[in-house]
Amino acid sequence: MVCQYFAPTPDGADTFTIAMPKLTFGRGCLAEIGARAAAREIRRAALFTDPQLVAGKYFETVRDSLQAAGIDVTVFSETLIEPSDASVLSASAFLADSGADGVVSVGGGSVMDTAKAALVYARYPAPFTDYFAPPIGAGVPVPGPVLPHIACPTTSGTGSECTPLSVIRINDLNTKFVIASPFILPQEALVDPVCGATLPANVVASTSFDLLSHAIECYTARAYTGWAKQAQPMQRPVIQGANPWSDLAAREALRLAGEYLTRGVADAEDQEARDALMWAATLAGMAFGNCGTHLPHALSYGVTHLMRDIETRDYAVPSPFVPHGISVIVNAPAVFRYTAAAEPERHLEAADCLGADNRGATPDDAGEVVAGRIIELMRATQIPNGLSGIGFTEADVAPLAKSAERQRRAVGNAPRETNYTDLENIYRGALAYW
Ligand SMILES: [Fe+2]
Repeated sequence: MVCQYFAPTPDGADTFTIAMPKLTFGRGCLAEIGARAAAREIRRAALFTDPQLVAGKYFETVRDSLQAAGIDVTVFSETLIEPSDASVLSASAFLADSGADGVVSVGGGSVMDTAKAALVYARYPAPFTDYFAPPIGAGVPVPGPVLPHIACPTTSGTGSECTPLSVIRINDLNTKFVIASPFILPQEALVDPVCGATLPANVVASTSFDLLSHAIECYTARAYTGWAKQAQPMQRPVIQGANPWSDLAAREALRLAGEYLTRGVADAEDQEARDALMWAATLAGMAFGNCGTHLPHALSYGVTHLMRDIETRDYAVPSPFVPHGISVIVNAPAVFRYTAAAEPERHLEAADCLGADNRGATPDDAGEVVAGRIIELMRATQIPNGLSGIGFTEADVAPLAKSAERQRRAVGNAPRETNYTDLENIYRGALAYW
């Protein structure tokens, strides 16, 4: 079949599923939230945000629009920037007691992911790790639908408004892990690029590298035909591998990131660039919400697990803290030097979308071309120089690899089979790039 151009494999999947929220994009669209929630017959909305945004104009716009549409609003603003099991449980207790018949989230990935997880635990209480995949959790599927959720991102990175994924820190294990379920995909998303205009430069840098990595991870992920065919259609995993849809969205997200990332970081007044990054983040969310990420994200969880003595400006969180996009991108060049051998043509295509100069490059050069372009963008935006730039040394390589190997589905979504030694070698290669 022409549209399914990935090579079939014995017993491999021959079908993919795409799920998307109804999406509205454009400057000022946050003010549509009242009419859109009313159209979904929401009468009482639980409005999730964070302690900074609750005093700001985006939150005010959303609250006022909901109230003008005759919708009762009850507010939860205690979201943590790094949501944890404890903070999600307090959010789910709030939701269960709220009498709300719908949820609206206004914020970055932390707010949207908190809302998604709270929706699950409020309706289907369970021991916290039940809904997480092994080896961290019991791998229990989310039992069924949750309340309607309209997501309104205020940063240009996470793409969480378009994904059936929620990333939560398990405090006892001091690591992040993922709940993946079709039931936590928001029904609707309002993406208003006005929200990107006020973000500090280093926040835009982190979130933009997050979206860039979502896109390139999708484009270079294991093909969906390389995952096992499911006997039951409803068991088809949301992390299903690269497919024609994720390719489509990832290519355009990479093109936009390549063109606008440095401009958007350098100049908050560059509306064209900031708007483009917001759209790119949403596109990348559409891609990885239907594909899954792979090694850069799997390895990022080792970084946030073991980080120490790191302070980061412009985030209202205690030290140590490494922003998500930074924890991802510091490993990315070393990852693509490793994965390119499996899919060199796709790595070269991704680099081309990202604006790399790959004239005369052969398949053997693919890893270097991708890594070189990412490093070029990192240096242009003052991103730390690999793991050593955020306080890690050779002595951390083994603990990092032990932590990351628990992210089995993401590790398995890489285009190469990757074992513990490979993870160590990638982390070692990520210590410094220049
Ligand atoms: Fe991410």
